[in-house]
Amino acid sequence: MKDSALTRKDLTARIACELETDLHSLLSGKYADAIRHLLEERGVVAFRELHLSDEQQLTFTKTLGITPQKYEVTKITMDPLENPNANYIRGAFFWHIDGTMLDVPCFASIMSSRRLSESGGQTEFANTYAAYDDLPESEKLELEGLKVVHMFEAAQRYVQPEPSFAELSKWQEHKPNTLPLVWKHRSGRKSLVLGSTASYVEGMDLQKGWALLTRLRDWATQPRFVYRHEWRVGDLVIWDNTGTMHRALPYAMDSGRLMYRTQIAGDEPFA
Ligand SMILES: [Fe+2]
Repeated sequence: MKDSALTRKDLTARIACELETDLHSLLSGKYADAIRHLLEERGVVAFRELHLSDEQQLTFTKTLGITPQKYEVTKITMDPLENPNANYIRGAFFWHIDGTMLDVPCFASIMSSRRLSESGGQTEFANTYAAYDDLPESEKLELEGLKVVHMFEAAQRYVQPEPSFAELSKWQEHKPNTLPLVWKHRSGRKSLVLGSTASYVEGMDLQKGWALLTRLRDWATQPRFVYRHEWRVGDLVIWDNTGTMHRALPYAMDSGRLMYRTQIAGDEPFA
């Protein structure tokens, strides 16, 4: 079999590119370095209608890095028969970064579509590197050194605004995590750390802190920093979780939408 080259097409000016190559090259790891590089540069890398099997998706994922053992392949669905934690998935309808309750979040997530909803269910990604880069210099200085307390319960309140004490106690098993508002990456690049777990700005008046977090989320999610993936069955999308936020657009609980997700472990703490 003759291998084809890796071809690239940028999908918007500031975020996302689509790649094309043959399956054999993809699974062999031949382009793994190039893909990792593009992931950091473009935030999102998409392949159209690849139709990988579970096993192929895992093989491909392992060419890109180490997979966290506990979650080798995760089924993302709201069908309560297939996913007992379907309610948690609704949290994905709001902008977030995966793993803000950890010191080291995953580097990337890889999602493939198996069944789609009739309407909704697109995934949106916002480039948090580009959003930081485009801030006025005076504002960059003001954000320097600010810390944000992230709480699991803050994200859960979006989907369950009036929890019982028992529910709240369960949420609070996750301890708050204090993270820098501006992440200084080892590469020297900087990105904003925002999203639904962001509870309050440390040491700042609560209202002022909320205003700041909300204004920055508006800023980071304006159209020029955002790519919306309109799924076709068999698509595979990878995102750099350390330089983007994401959310799913709402879809019906009983729509049958089913995605398979694998992850690449991170090796860079929030700093
Ligand atoms: Fe997520």
